[in-house]
Amino acid sequence: MSDAYTPRPEDRFTFGLWTVGWTGVDPFGVATREPLDAVHAVEKLAELGAHGITFHDDDLIPFGSADAERDRRIAAFRKALDATGMKVPMVTTNLFTHPVFKDGALTANDRDVRRFALRKVLRNIDLAAELGAQTYVVWGGREGAESAAAKEVDMALERYKEGLNLLTSYVKDKGYDIRFALEPKPNEPRGDILLPTIGHALAFINELQDSEIVGLNPEIGHEQMAGLNMVHGVAQALWHGKLFHIDLNGQNGPRFDQDLRFGNGDVKTAFFLVDLLERGGYRGPRHFDFKPPRTEDYSGVWESARGCMRNYLILAEKARAFRADPEVVEALRESRVEELRLPTLKRGETVEDLRNEEDFDVDAAAARGMHYERLDQLALEHLFGVR
Ligand code: GCO
Ligand code: MN
Ligand code: MN
Repeated sequence: MSDAYTPRPEDRFTFGLWTVGWTGVDPFGVATREPLDAVHAVEKLAELGAHGITFHDDDLIPFGSADAERDRRIAAFRKALDATGMKVPMVTTNLFTHPVFKDGALTANDRDVRRFALRKVLRNIDLAAELGAQTYVVWGGREGAESAAAKEVDMALERYKEGLNLLTSYVKDKGYDIRFALEPKPNEPRGDILLPTIGHALAFINELQDSEIVGLNPEIGHEQMAGLNMVHGVAQALWHGKLFHIDLNGQNGPRFDQDLRFGNGDVKTAFFLVDLLERGGYRGPRHFDFKPPRTEDYSGVWESARGCMRNYLILAEKARAFRADPEVVEALRESRVEELRLPTLKRGETVEDLRNEEDFDVDAAAARGMHYERLDQLALEHLFGVR
C-alpha cells in the first residue's frame, strides 16, 4: 500500500525499541509475544518509512551483560543502522525495571542507589554520543512515593537537581552535542511521581545550573492522565523554547497509562496537536511511545506502528486544509483570534494614556459574541472529512 500517507524518512518519525518490542507483559498477565530482535526492529521500521529508532540502555543491552556481549549487540545494531540509514536521534536510561530502583534512581533515599544510577546514565550517555543522539530523555518513573512519610520532596528535588547538574556538566566537559529532555508523568509506576506535569518540570528546569540544555519530552497520555490539556501544555513548552522532543500516543482520559497507537484515543487533541507542531516551529523528531496491544501478533504490531505514522500524516493534511479553508480564515477573523497578537498597549502609549481612555463602550463589548462555536464546528467537519 503506497499513497499520500505513506511515511518517508524526511517525515522524521521515530519509535522506541521498547514500543514495538513490548511483549505484552502487564500487571495481570505474562508476555503474549516473543521478544523482538533489535536488528529486526531496525529493518522493519526502516521498511515502513521511519527515520529512526530510540532505546533505553537495557532494551539493547540486557542489564548486567558482560562487556563482550554488550559489544556484540552494539555492533550488530550499528550494522543494521548503517545498512538501512536509520538514525538514533534520542537515547534514554532504564532506571525503573531492576528491583534496585524500587524507590527511585536519582532520588532514591538510598544514597548508594543514587550513585549507581548516575554511573548507569553516564555510561549510556557515552553510547548515545557515539551513535549521534542529540537528545537524552530522563523519565523518572520510579522517582516518587506511595506515602508522604516516605519521601522528603524538597530533598528529593535537591538530589534530582544535583544529578542533572552532574549530567549536564559531564556532557559539556565531554563536548557532546546532547541536550536533556525531562518527561513528566503524574503516576504509574509510583503512586505519585515527581515532576508530574509539564508545568512542574518547566519550573524545575529554572533551578538547574545548565538550564539552557534541559528541556522537555512531554507525552500526550501523561498530560491526559493528569486531566490536562496537551495542546496547551505543548504550546507553553514551545513558548519557553523547551520542546526538545515529544512522545506521541493515545489515551482516553484520566486512567492508567494506555500508551495507545497515536490517533486512537482523543482524536481532537491529536488533530490540534499536529496542527500546533506543524505550524509552531517544532523541528525535532515525531517520536511514538506507544504499546501495540497485547491482543496483537507481530503483524498487528507493524500495522500499529504504520498506523501511528499514517495518522500523523493524515492529521497534518487535515490541519493544512483547515487553515487554508476560506471559511475558516473568515471564522478566525470573526472570532478575533489574530487580534490577540496585538500588544495590549498601543505604540508609544503610556499607562496614563491608558487610564485616561474614555471611549470604550462596555455594553457593546459585553454583548459581542465570539463565534467560537462556528470555528470549532469547522474544525470538526474537517476532521470528520466532510469538508
Ligand atoms: C511511559 C513512559 C516511558 C518513557 C520511556 C522513556 O509510558 O510511562 O512514556 O515509556 O517514555 O521509558 O524513558
Ligand atoms: Mn506512557
Ligand atoms: Mn514516554
